Amino acid sequence: MISPNTIQQILSRIDILDVVGGFVKLKRRGANYLGLCPFHNEKSPSFTVSPAKEIYKCFGCGKSGNTISFIMEHEKYSYVDALKWLANKYGIEIEETFATNEQREQQQTADSLYIINSFAQQFFSNTLFDTEEGQDIGLSYLKERGFREEIIRKFQIGYSPEQRDAFTREALAKQFNKDLLIKTGLVTNRNDQLMDNYRGRVIFPVHNHSGKVLGFGARILKTNDKAPKYINTPENEIYVKSKILYGSWFARQAIDKADECLLVEGYTDVVSLHQAGIENVVASGGTSLTQDQLRLIRKYSNNLTIVYDGDAAGIKAALRGLDMALEEGLNVKLVLIPDKEDPDSYVNKVGANNFREFIQKNKKDFVLFQLEVALRDAAGDSVKKADVVNQVAETISKINKAEDFTKQQDYIRQCSEILKIDEAGLHALVNKFIRDKIATQERALPAIEAKQIEENSSKAEATNYDDATFNLLFKDELQEREFARVLLEHGNKPGNEGQPIADYIFNEIIDESLFDNPEIIKLITVYKKAFYEHDSAKTEKSFFIYHPDTSLSTLAVSLLNFPYEESEHWKKEFNQSTGYQKKLFEKSYEDFMRTITIEQDKSLLNYLKIGEDKTHEEIESAVNYFKLRKIKRMLLENQVDMEKPHTPAEFETLHKTHEHLKSLEREIVQKAGTVIIK
Ligand code: GTP
Ligand code: MN
Repeated sequence: MISPNTIQQILSRIDILDVVGGFVKLKRRGANYLGLCPFHNEKSPSFTVSPAKEIYKCFGCGKSGNTISFIMEHEKYSYVDALKWLANKYGIEIEETFATNEQREQQQTADSLYIINSFAQQFFSNTLFDTEEGQDIGLSYLKERGFREEIIRKFQIGYSPEQRDAFTREALAKQFNKDLLIKTGLVTNRNDQLMDNYRGRVIFPVHNHSGKVLGFGARILKTNDKAPKYINTPENEIYVKSKILYGSWFARQAIDKADECLLVEGYTDVVSLHQAGIENVVASGGTSLTQDQLRLIRKYSNNLTIVYDGDAAGIKAALRGLDMALEEGLNVKLVLIPDKEDPDSYVNKVGANNFREFIQKNKKDFVLFQLEVALRDAAGDSVKKADVVNQVAETISKINKAEDFTKQQDYIRQCSEILKIDEAGLHALVNKFIRDKIATQERALPAIEAKQIEENSSKAEATNYDDATFNLLFKDELQEREFARVLLEHGNKPGNEGQPIADYIFNEIIDESLFDNPEIIKLITVYKKAFYEHDSAKTEKSFFIYHPDTSLSTLAVSLLNFPYEESEHWKKEFNQSTGYQKKLFEKSYEDFMRTITIEQDKSLLNYLKIGEDKTHEEIESAVNYFKLRKIKRMLLENQVDMEKPHTPAEFETLHKTHEHLKSLEREIVQKAGTVIIK
């Protein structure tokens, strides 16, 4: 943990223009600065930075955040790494605090391992390029395989000499600690003698997401040896196999740009594809994918394309990760490399352009691919076919995030066509798997997550209802966001009769557990506590914008508006007065609008609408509207429940609930007067 004191120092030094300006060329535009968005490809600038609010937003792709999240997003750093980067930039010494001594020791060990690895990486690189053995054996092997010098240097590939203690001696001369040397896996202890673990091997350093060396993969050169082909670093404080994606340091920006991550099996596949100019590629290291690896991938992109050997083992390895990938919300595609080749040999054989074309042409949807393979297997056997149906329904049931809802529906339709079975039947089967899963998870999960899953599944079941109802369920999200926004933007201001707006909102909503979005609940809870403890610094916008909990700061940034997005009546005001907006842009409204490109246009105009300043009445009507939506939704859920089989007593309860909700609904409609929900 970085100490609060250091964080304060960093925050006080941060200058968003300085930091963002280091990556994006910014031009002043009124109170804001404008540049080409670094997060998507664009020709005219939509990326806006507000130095006053210390936030940025791109009106093209919608990405937004504060200075810290900019570094996190742009460099793919964790929160702590982003702070470290900033501290380094501003020459601030980092003071770390540790909860326990054990944690302190662990951190110290980790730091030492990085230092040794960095030393070792240089040793192996120097040996490769600067010694006779390295050149004759290592370099000539790599060149024979088609790796050019520039790519070898980029990936910092090296060579470990045959001599039994070449590295060990250098390392001991440097006074590195013996136990730590053994921990890195570079050195072993044999009969009380320290010696090298890698001998006569080509060394691939494995970098973490910020370019530090976590460990190594050492490839044997002799072909008919009994020794393993690769020796990898053993698990230690920094080398955690399940969290490693080889190549991520070199691929992260290309993945971002392409919005696609290619996944291959081996080190050499990554390096060869890079050499061919295909840089959005990482490797899993030959084992099946772990959840941690999938989460890392999802940090970069939602689109995962697995590029594996076309043999049975390759397909099997790929399939093992499928369900997990779907659960993580990834869109998974598959390309199988033909003719017993792997991506490395294939790109060398056919060339970069053909390889690229091959990938594009042969990309298959993974769920449908799995179905085809299974069906081919089951050919004509009706028992087996029933298994296939079950299996595909279970797979589809894993796609169960609210935002993936349409994807799930598409799969149900496509799979029922391929299987030649009734779509509604498959739908029911998928829902059964979802319910089964909820039932098992409900027993194990804390209340809030269980609630989330249950709601997702009732959303899924709600497809039997019309579109309007469906929208109603999903638009709650917007309503909730609007609440949180009003709170952040206006909570401290006086409303009717001097009662602070926050007080009014809290009295009316009473219970924030009525909200669905866990992040909004968190924000409201934090705000509420500070508000009633009269800790006014913690109800400031800036407190939330720089909240160390990134889920809160991201939410806060995404809720807040830019200074010029003040009112729906903006245009009128703009033209009527010499008000501050006019001064801001130093030009007419039309002139300003002309500077906005068509793509920005839409999102900006939408933004202007929701960014409108709320009067007290509007807030009140939002409260009622919100309550009504909630009741509608509870009614609907109750209704879904009533359609399932129940004991008479259960049914009685459900019926009473229904009546109660109906009377609440009437009450609010009366109170609100005119509000009628479509
Ligand atoms: P080349 O054969 O040189 O093209 O290497 P490769 O990296 O393509 O290796 P391969 O396709 O045989 O295996 C894919 C990946 O599995 C490798 O990159 C390693 O991460 C891993 N792997 C292969 N063999 C071994 C081994 O013997 N031990 C360990 N620990 N990992 C291995
Ligand atoms: Mn290979």
